[in-house]
Amino acid sequence: MQKEYTTSFEAIESYDHLDETEKKLFDSAQKFRAIAYAPYSNFTVGCAILLENGEIISGSNQENAAYPSGLCAERTTIFWIGANFPDVKIKKLFVIGAPREALTSVPIPPCGACRQSILEYEAKQSDPIEIYFASLDGAIYKTKSIRDLLPFSFDSSYL
Ligand code: THU
Repeated sequence: MQKEYTTSFEAIESYDHLDETEKKLFDSAQKFRAIAYAPYSNFTVGCAILLENGEIISGSNQENAAYPSGLCAERTTIFWIGANFPDVKIKKLFVIGAPREALTSVPIPPCGACRQSILEYEAKQSDPIEIYFASLDGAIYKTKSIRDLLPFSFDSSYL
């Protein structure tokens, strides 16, 4: 028997189509991308996360001379939230990444390891996390849940 997962995403045309909170997330992700520590790849990524208490927590990718010891912007940010706001739900995660000096880009989706980490927090809070990934020029893709980016996922229910 053939089975299927259906996932979907919304394509938002430009920054102007974002609401005020989403604009703040975009701006914060951009601000933090500018100060990313990415001297090895020069691919800078900013992440901004909206909590249910209204706070926006942001972060960037952090690289290391021992390359695998570095960490993506999404996990840098979400792990900090896990440590500092363990009981506060996460509503939205916004990510923008591009080569450091790029003027234009395409929306870059979270890598596989980040998807798995985001899923952990979505499962823990039993509420979906909306994921946005944007280009520098403001083309934005949005999903309603990390599960749209990670169908057929492994989680604690299998342990
Ligand atoms: N990177 C992120 O920060 N997030 C992703 O989802 C993809 C990749 C970072 C890791 C590394 O510092 C640089 O981008 C190049 O891979």
